[in-house]
Amino acid sequence: METIWTRGIEMPVFGALEGRISSDACVIGGGLCGLLTAHFLVKAGMDTVLLESGRIACGTSGRTTAKLTAQHGLCYHRLVEKFGQEQARLYAEANRRAIDDFRALERSLDEDFELRDCGTWLYASGDVGCDALERECSAARLCGFDAELSEDTGLSFAKLGLRFGGQATFQPIKLMAALARRLKIFENSRVLEVNGRSVRTEGGEVDAKIVVFATRFPFVNFPGFYFMRMHQEREYVLEMRGNHRISEPFLGIEEAGVSLRPCSADSLLIGGSSHRAGMEGDGRYEAIRAFAAQHFPELREVGAWSAEDCVTVDGVPYIGRFAPTAPDGWLVATGFGKWGMTTSMVAARLITDLACGRRSEYAELFDPARFKPSAGARMLMEETAMSAKHLARGAFAPPDGFVVELQRGEAAHIEANGRKVGAYRDDDGRLWLVEPRCPHLGCELVWNGDEKSWDCPCHGSRFGYDGAQLDGPAQIGIAARGKE
Ligand SMILES: Cc1cc2nc3c(=O)[nH]c(=O)nc-3n(C[C@H](O)[C@H](O)[C@H](O)COP(=O)(O)OP(=O)(O)OC[C@H]3O[C@@H](n4cnc5c(N)ncnc54)[C@H](O)[C@@H]3O)c2cc1C
Ligand code: FES
Repeated sequence: METIWTRGIEMPVFGALEGRISSDACVIGGGLCGLLTAHFLVKAGMDTVLLESGRIACGTSGRTTAKLTAQHGLCYHRLVEKFGQEQARLYAEANRRAIDDFRALERSLDEDFELRDCGTWLYASGDVGCDALERECSAARLCGFDAELSEDTGLSFAKLGLRFGGQATFQPIKLMAALARRLKIFENSRVLEVNGRSVRTEGGEVDAKIVVFATRFPFVNFPGFYFMRMHQEREYVLEMRGNHRISEPFLGIEEAGVSLRPCSADSLLIGGSSHRAGMEGDGRYEAIRAFAAQHFPELREVGAWSAEDCVTVDGVPYIGRFAPTAPDGWLVATGFGKWGMTTSMVAARLITDLACGRRSEYAELFDPARFKPSAGARMLMEETAMSAKHLARGAFAPPDGFVVELQRGEAAHIEANGRKVGAYRDDDGRLWLVEPRCPHLGCELVWNGDEKSWDCPCHGSRFGYDGAQLDGPAQIGIAARGKE
């Protein structure tokens, strides 16, 4: 999928892993988090291999809006309340440092990834939102931010704005390409199994004492239980062209709010229509188009895409040891809550410290083990997982000879011979039938009309209408059959 970031950029190409190799560290996942982590592990003197299931940057990192900011929505008021002032201050400090680390990285790599300093804004249009901004401003100042409230946002639809100074934007694909060129990478090498120090792909195996799961959603279910503690959210982006007067990024905090990300004087990204991945419905691009037509009628659409990211139960990413019962060298970074540009850098630093046996003041805050499911909850979940697996196992054999009345571009769940089947008729009139059950833990898939995909409401896996796997945690596609 082309985005403003990928257009015209030639990414380095890497072969697939074949045979058995050893390294100090093996990073799984070639998004921003995996690439930065591999970079810092190498800098720390570790021989490091990175395995990517598809191509580098083919996940969410290539479809982001690339604001480098420690202003993560209304997070500081919530952090002070839930975690206390000291942990909130540490969260702010970790993310501010991350932005400085990006500045230092651009200098040290001697590459231009278009890092530009700016302020970033939250805006509100209604009274309730304005009150929330005032509370957030006080909490942010306690955490050391240069935070200012202003009615002078330049947006006709905003009543109040909260600006943080000292933030930035960048071109993520340029950075990822620069990092990739300096690393030992295998593409088209999906990791199928991790067993202690052994990381196995279809064609080979890496033996490593440090294994980093940087796959956005960890695909190993037990231990860790990440599927119990996270969900994925999907967001839609329009790329607009034409002169505009937005000079800094904005994010609306209310339900109808949008994200505005200027890329140049005549290029603006408008994001929004966020929803829990796998919620049925369509018209999400249309909602943003309607907003753009009302407030930016002078701009024309030149691109559109969507992507998803993991959100943890307490809103703070999980970065650190995979699980107390996992093998010693397993580390994980996930749950970035749509702020994984800065927190990928936080993760890369923290994971490198842990891999090298160094103390980090941020370890406790991001520790994935801060959630401790009770034994009862764990058992219930294991039971559910077992039965779900069972549900997913049956062979898919859509019955022949039944009639499906669908127009081109339409999809539906149909009942055929007592069996549920997902049906979609493509633009050429061909009917596609799929087993509408997620191979991750067995949940029933729903149709996403905007992306023409079957999405899982449980943890956000996605599949094409032809059954191909598009997004994890599921690691395989679903059974499908095309019929004329
Ligand atoms: C619309 C949108 C806008 C956003 N805007 C911002 C923003 O402005 N600022 C910000 O800070 N954050 C933003 N984010 C969040 C940010 O983009 C993400 O948090 C970040 O890109 C996640 O990076 P990642 O490396 O963890 O995941 P990904 O980029 O998804 O990388 C994970 C990689 O792992 C690979 N993989 C998966 N399974 C396997 C396997 N078994 N074996 C090998 N490889 C595997 C995948 O193919 C993928 O390449 C946004 C998110 C969205 C959805
Ligand atoms: S993603 Fe977990 S059941 Fe579908």
